[in-house]
Amino acid sequence: MSDQHPLEAIVYVSASVQPMGDGRLEALLVEARRLNLESGVTGALIYSDGVFMQYFEGEPGPMAQTYERIRKSRQHSRLVELMNEPIGAREFPDWHMALAQPSQSELLAISTANWVVEGARSRARASARSQGSGGLTLLRDFWRRRGSTG
Ligand SMILES: Cc1cc2nc3c(=O)[nH]c(=O)nc-3n(C[C@H](O)[C@H](O)[C@H](O)COP(=O)(O)O)c2cc1C
Repeated sequence: MSDQHPLEAIVYVSASVQPMGDGRLEALLVEARRLNLESGVTGALIYSDGVFMQYFEGEPGPMAQTYERIRKSRQHSRLVELMNEPIGAREFPDWHMALAQPSQSELLAISTANWVVEGARSRARASARSQGSGGLTLLRDFWRRRGSTG
């Protein structure tokens, strides 16, 4: 049920500094996948109309390095973290970075969901975590609906 090693997941939204045409997105994705393959990071990138939202997961060390790389990138700005927590198992074990380009309203719905579970250290939090937050549930549903393409 859970992986051998501790895992954590980070979710953020950010603004692209310039419109991401297919070429730019493709280049970003190729680089991200190459790096993630090396570091064992998996996840999903969502882009719509100047807004990125990314969910990525992996072991703590590689996650810290990846997050630093992402935060430093000049391809986006105004990064806002929505979630940064331990997880029991990977959501995207087969994707070193999946990509979706949903409608703006769909991205908005997922990103404005409740990502942070209230009541740190409480039992309620632990059980909410095992079920996934509202945001995670929406992200899962979104991915299930669209099928697994990348
Ligand atoms: C939206 C976005 C998503 C990214 N995703 C990843 C990722 O999943 N893994 C990773 O190692 N780097 C990721 N990066 C970082 C890039 O791979 C690359 O290292 C970075 O963009 C280089 O910095 P620069 O854009 O300022 O040249 C991401 C960057 C952006 C802007």
